[in-house]
Amino acid sequence: MNQSESTRDFYNKYGEKEWERLFRSPQDKLNYILHMDFLDAELGAGITVLDAGCGGGRFSVDFAKRGCHITLLDISDEQIRIAEEKLNEYDLGSYVDKALVGDIGNLDMIEDDTFDVTVCYGAPLSYLYDNYLDGIKELYRVTKPGGQVFISVNNRLGVIRTLIGRNGFDIVDFLARKDYWFVDEVVQTGNLPSHPDVAHPPRHFFEASELMNLFKEIGFKDIKLGSSPCLSAGLSDRVEEIYENKDAWETLVDLEIKSYQKEATLDLGEFLMIKGRK
Ligand SMILES: C[S@@+](CC[C@H](N)C(=O)[O-])C[C@H]1O[C@@H](n2cnc3c(N)ncnc32)[C@H](O)[C@@H]1O
Repeated sequence: MNQSESTRDFYNKYGEKEWERLFRSPQDKLNYILHMDFLDAELGAGITVLDAGCGGGRFSVDFAKRGCHITLLDISDEQIRIAEEKLNEYDLGSYVDKALVGDIGNLDMIEDDTFDVTVCYGAPLSYLYDNYLDGIKELYRVTKPGGQVFISVNNRLGVIRTLIGRNGFDIVDFLARKDYWFVDEVVQTGNLPSHPDVAHPPRHFFEASELMNLFKEIGFKDIKLGSSPCLSAGLSDRVEEIYENKDAWETLVDLEIKSYQKEATLDLGEFLMIKGRK
């Protein structure tokens, strides 16, 4: 199977678990809150949004609640089926203009300058592996001049920090067998090739400066980066404790929102976010 086929196959089998991803743990909820905060100002009634790599449609439900008109797109026909089902369950089906099964690396079925806002959240571009530049160019092409593109990808050093703090993960074995786990290769090149003990298809992990340079090269303006989560990346157990106390949780959310776009934290979140204007 090639990269696109492996990704389709993986997410077709992953099914409903993708819809649940952002609500499994308090740290997932933080990811959801920060991703929404990053684009919130651009949403509104009548705004056209492409949700590229929409998965089960978790973000599109919120876009629709804000009155946006959505085009769903995913390489997995099963994820598109789930996303349409969820929007209908929330009685928001009328906000879906189109639901497309397609590859972000080639969006020929969409004309230039179509959307006010283009969103590619939850690391779809990481799954393009060595084809991510074509993907970013396509997201830029289908966005209207003056419109914005919002992306989140897997964070290169952030993934290691996340693994260090992951409950139940054997971090000692992981670090002691760094060649087996391709640790140096990922840190140097960003590429994690196919691996017998990694369920996901090959992925590219990004650094903040790398993504910033790609956005500049393509011609984006007003570029801003973020990391998610930020202060509490890799500290999932502590975040669970904090979540038990409403006031403490509200303070953490407030601190995360105040800090997630600060330069010092960008390379350490689980996700790296970037936005830019065409
Ligand atoms: C982790 S999920 C994120 C879903 C959703 N955007 C979110 O943040 O909740 C990644 C999604 O990207 C999709 N995807 C991966 N590679 C893709 C590609 N080349 N073109 C379109 N979709 C892709 C997968 O099928 C999957 O549904």
